[in-house]
Amino acid sequence: MSFHAIEQALARLNRSELAVPGSQVQLLEKAAKSNSDVVFLDLEDAVAPDDKEQARKNIIEALNDLDWSGKSVSVRINGLDTHYMYRDVVDVVEQAGNNLDLIMIPKVGTAADVYAVDMLVTQIEDAKSFKKRIGFEHIIETALGMQNVAEIAAASNRNESLHFGVADYAASTRARTTVIGGVNEDYSVLTDPDDNGNRDVHWDDMWHYPLSKMVVCARANGLRPIDGPFGDFSDPDGYRAAAKRAAVLGCEGKWAVHPSQIELANEVMSPSEAEVTKARRILEAMEQAAKEGKGAVSLDGRLIDYASIRQAEVLVEKAEQIAGN
Ligand code: GLV
Ligand code: MG
Repeated sequence: MSFHAIEQALARLNRSELAVPGSQVQLLEKAAKSNSDVVFLDLEDAVAPDDKEQARKNIIEALNDLDWSGKSVSVRINGLDTHYMYRDVVDVVEQAGNNLDLIMIPKVGTAADVYAVDMLVTQIEDAKSFKKRIGFEHIIETALGMQNVAEIAAASNRNESLHFGVADYAASTRARTTVIGGVNEDYSVLTDPDDNGNRDVHWDDMWHYPLSKMVVCARANGLRPIDGPFGDFSDPDGYRAAAKRAAVLGCEGKWAVHPSQIELANEVMSPSEAEVTKARRILEAMEQAAKEGKGAVSLDGRLIDYASIRQAEVLVEKAEQIAGN
């Protein structure tokens, strides 16, 4: 290990993160009763400009009046380039900050963006003598944000998670796609012809690089990497496949843009019983190996060593976190 110790953000279950427009009061009520680990109440892109003020009021009321127990609640403020943003922070934190766990900052581009919101939130928390400190979730969804993701991840000790905002990221990088988080047949590999001249097309994941980059920067700063939206909510199989790819890379959760995606996210982002059993067997085998003075042994015909302990511990810790929730 490096001498540099990585401080871990507050451990918070974040397998699913439901997006709810602040303009739709009945959806806010439903969200409070949902099974989502985190719910973010949206003031940004799901709310039309004329509805922003009313949505802010709805969200303040929802934070103060609804029962959010058993889950974490976040508010997605408007971007720092809009005049809505300062009022989003001032009104929501002043009037409902005690009931708010997280603020989600969209389109964050530089560490200075984080600093600006941190300064504002800190002043309000101090003025109100709030006991609880609000954490930050950042959506990495612009070319600038992706370029500066390492600095953003390290910019505040309020930081808890980084989210891959695939829709805006596609727009910002001018990617030639209109889907939200799905695959694109143009991003494929054509195999060389076989002996009969047949060629296969292998569809590939065009989001692999940015998602991986964000995961690394999140983990190097003790933050949770979370995969963003999958727009086609009538395609549970496509959602599950995208969530699995993200989980395999190290993401802890995925957004749900529709309530039907919550259970899918919770399922995929929880280690399976078979995985946890295998992890526990690895830990037992390595404990036995240590007693025998060995650093590496074989289990089921495969090598395991001290790195296997660390991999297995991650799975067991996650299972315990879920069980204890
Ligand atoms: C989320 O905000 C996205 O743009 O994908
Ligand atoms: Mg976005």
